[in-house]
Amino acid sequence: MLKNNPDSSSPVLVIDMGAQYAQLIARRVREAHVYSEIVPHTMDAEKILAKNPAAIIISGGPSSVYAQGAPSIDSAIFSAGVPILGICYGFQLMARTLGGQVGRTGTREYGHTQAKLQDGGGCLFAGTPLEQTVWMSHGDSVIKAPEGFKVTAATEQTPVAAFEDSTRHLYGLQWHPEVLHSQYGQRALEHFLYNGAGLQPTWTADSIIDTQIEKIRRQVGNARVICGLSGGVDSSVAAALVHKAIGDQLTCIFVDHGLLRAGEREQVERDYAASTGIKIVTVDESERFLTALAGVSEPEAKRKIIGREFIRSFEAAQRALVKEAGESGEEIKFLVQGTLYPDVVESGGGEGAANIKSHHNVGGLPEDLNFELIEPLRTLFKDEVREIGLALGVPEQIVWRQPFPGPGLGIRIIGEITAKRLEILRAADKIAREELTAAGLDRDIWQCPVVLLADVRSVGVQGDGRTYGHPIVLRPVSSEDAMTADWSRLPYEVLAKISNRITNSVPEVNRVVLDCTSKPPGTIEWE
Ligand code: XMP
Repeated sequence: MLKNNPDSSSPVLVIDMGAQYAQLIARRVREAHVYSEIVPHTMDAEKILAKNPAAIIISGGPSSVYAQGAPSIDSAIFSAGVPILGICYGFQLMARTLGGQVGRTGTREYGHTQAKLQDGGGCLFAGTPLEQTVWMSHGDSVIKAPEGFKVTAATEQTPVAAFEDSTRHLYGLQWHPEVLHSQYGQRALEHFLYNGAGLQPTWTADSIIDTQIEKIRRQVGNARVICGLSGGVDSSVAAALVHKAIGDQLTCIFVDHGLLRAGEREQVERDYAASTGIKIVTVDESERFLTALAGVSEPEAKRKIIGREFIRSFEAAQRALVKEAGESGEEIKFLVQGTLYPDVVESGGGEGAANIKSHHNVGGLPEDLNFELIEPLRTLFKDEVREIGLALGVPEQIVWRQPFPGPGLGIRIIGEITAKRLEILRAADKIAREELTAAGLDRDIWQCPVVLLADVRSVGVQGDGRTYGHPIVLRPVSSEDAMTADWSRLPYEVLAKISNRITNSVPEVNRVVLDCTSKPPGTIEWE
């Protein structure tokens, strides 16, 4: 029996076969308005099925199912009656496990490829053109479909490029429908979800808001709640959502950790408070953070300290609020955070990838945390959060703000953090932001970290004299979800203007350099 109306109680599970594709597939499923979650291939079948999946998608992965140590999955998954889609490596694994043949043909297909539909294209490709351009990246090929399957597409090199067994609701394709280079890729995913698995597109901003409001009310009751507000999109939308659920039971705490950019505090205190009507208390904790960070250069250590001091600051603010309430005041035990799904996955806290870095609000939390967390965005991607923000009436300037990490300028100073270095970086960052805005580029780029290489100095010349200053790195990137990114090709004139202004007005800086690395292999932030 097929299930309808999936939500987080019956997710579409994307099994991560070890490469970079699972995140993107999970997002594409959400774009089709169906709830999805990522699980690792090491999870056993029993656990996977206990999650009550509405459907399963097996992602792409390493190049050969024959490679030593190649990831595999428990074959019981295929006979559980759950609709399954295998993509690329997942397709080959499916073929091999169910008795088909995967050949080490030795011919690689990579990049744009022409696929030809067969037999009307079956469930996945119904109604799409007989020939379409698709994105391939594989070495091995399926040479024989398993018994009971019909072949629905082929390419010149790959006679079995897609197949299906509609009775068992099992589907597979060799190419990557999740990448935009595959024409009709999203359509194929939707056909699998709606027709193959019989799911309804009910995961929408309104439905997420309704579900979360109900959940927050149930969790909190009449209690008071505080929210760590950073001024960024995530915490602003989280606060708006909680505010909608419980109104004035919510107080936002804006911690000025001394690692903010120029003008940021004022923007939060003035613009956000005015437009949302949410109570906001600002606490100046810059001394606390700078003292705790003194002498620390190692990035993970910095992140841990910042995470810990955030919590200590919230605890202090909480005590102050309780004291202010006098006799009637009781302890506030709920803390709202704007944690997103990629934060959870990248911190190794989801069930997906390895620990790449401890996001300050996930892996960076201290163990003796005294708060019960409310994280209404924990399952969401950034674009979903923006959509929810708009639906909640959060002002567009905030919803479209570029991401800025919670640990702030602290992770953009490479080396020890000092007040002087913060001042240098703040001045350079302000100039870069002003020029990007003046050039109308804010919506074209995802974000542009400005980084101070505080431990590096090099010789320059200015006026008649020799200088021995620090380099500033500009890191403009374009991205869909920050999981992968490319460096933005900013106009030279804009770069020149930023560089001139910084080197002329920030005396400690004598070079401005551009980071032209994609992610991977780089990350967006330097730290
Ligand atoms: P990376 O450097 O991992 O960054 O490519 C991906 C995105 O996440 C942001 N980022 C953070 N955001 N807390 C946050 O709220 C953090 O600790 C954090 N670290 C990175 C980064 O700015 C980029 O948008």
